[in-house]
Amino acid sequence: MPVVRTLQRAVGRMVQGPACGCGTAARPRQLLGSSPWQIPADANFHSASFSEADRPRVLITGGLGQLGVGLANLLRKRFGKDNVILSDIRKPSDHVFHSGPFVYSDILDYKNLREIVVNHRVTWVFHYSALLSAAGEANVSLARAINITGLHNVLDVAAEHNLRLFVPSTIGAFGPTSPRNPTPDLCTQRPRTIYGVSKVHAELMGEYYHYRYGLDFRCLRYPGIISADSQCGGGTTDYAVQIFHDAVKNGKFECYLKPSTRLPMMYIDDCLRATLEVMEAPAEALSLRTYNVNAMSFSPEEVAQEVLKHIPGFQITYNVDSVRQDIADSWPLNFDDSNARKDWGWKHDFDLPELVMTMLSFHGSDSRVAQAN
Ligand SMILES: NC(=O)c1ccc[n+]([C@@H]2O[C@H](COP(=O)([O-])OP(=O)(O)OC[C@H]3O[C@@H](n4cnc5c(N)ncnc54)[C@H](O)[C@@H]3O)[C@@H](O)[C@H]2O)c1
Repeated sequence: MPVVRTLQRAVGRMVQGPACGCGTAARPRQLLGSSPWQIPADANFHSASFSEADRPRVLITGGLGQLGVGLANLLRKRFGKDNVILSDIRKPSDHVFHSGPFVYSDILDYKNLREIVVNHRVTWVFHYSALLSAAGEANVSLARAINITGLHNVLDVAAEHNLRLFVPSTIGAFGPTSPRNPTPDLCTQRPRTIYGVSKVHAELMGEYYHYRYGLDFRCLRYPGIISADSQCGGGTTDYAVQIFHDAVKNGKFECYLKPSTRLPMMYIDDCLRATLEVMEAPAEALSLRTYNVNAMSFSPEEVAQEVLKHIPGFQITYNVDSVRQDIADSWPLNFDDSNARKDWGWKHDFDLPELVMTMLSFHGSDSRVAQAN
């Protein structure tokens, strides 16, 4: 960390400004947010439109993982191709590189992050860089750096430049002492993974910066996200992505979780739409800064039953990985997302049958799906 920032952090504690020392005055909560909208009775912000001048200029960090490219596609449709910058420390594929702006950005490099925000006049950041649950347990110090130090850099840049900041949290932000069925927005959070601990830290730091410095911080706790065309990043719910690929390719799947391990899950289209909707919601509509969002909840044996309806003869076997099983056993079985539904009109589209149809169709089992129906 540059010396000047260390000093700024120390001074920042004593003045009305964030740790970056930028001097943004603390503002009353009701003045936050620049949304021009009134809250409609049936709050659903997806259809609101932006004029050219109001369009946010977006940066997505860690954008080459499972979720970032899909988010960029959605946001580019909404705000224009050139207003959405993808970034990562990895090299993009030709397709990604040619589909819109891409820059190198290491979230551990504060100056690099600030330079991008300034040069591109960024107004919204979606902070996706992370090391997920299983990958984090395999390399705790790297997870701590990316998930905690990286978050601090993003928070400071966001506060310094008055950005609207989205940081995803997770079902992994809860632990064995949290109520698990359902898990409400506000309850005991004592996770036992570095991933979970760093996400609770992110939730708390984001809220702290919101109340202390007026940062427009917004956070959703995602369930396990299921996508067809992107690789998983080493999470505990990855099996629910791989099962469809293996079912279509080999007619069988070996699962690393026990058959009855129930977890909250969501199809990627719902996840990305929820993300856009909470970012577009007027600040006045938000009674919380961190919301649970939910769609469905299932176990490996339940998803396998549903796959079997489309691929006769499909077989699932179990070879339990104790690290991921222990993680899953401490996570919510079901999410209570009633606050998201009430405050900003959250509503999922995909349930389990719809998800299975969509995933199998994507992987090319159309003919078998059609035959089974
Ligand atoms: N995928 C899920 O099921 C799920 C569920 C809950 C929450 N989330 C959250 O959503 C976000 C995106 O998840 P994902 O599945 O796309 O993750 P992912 O692991 O697939 O991708 C993370 C990306 O971060 C990048 N990265 C790593 N170190 C970096 C650094 N120093 N600087 C910049 N980028 C760096 C990686 O190269 C990678 O492309 C994460 O914050 C994750 O915690 C995901």
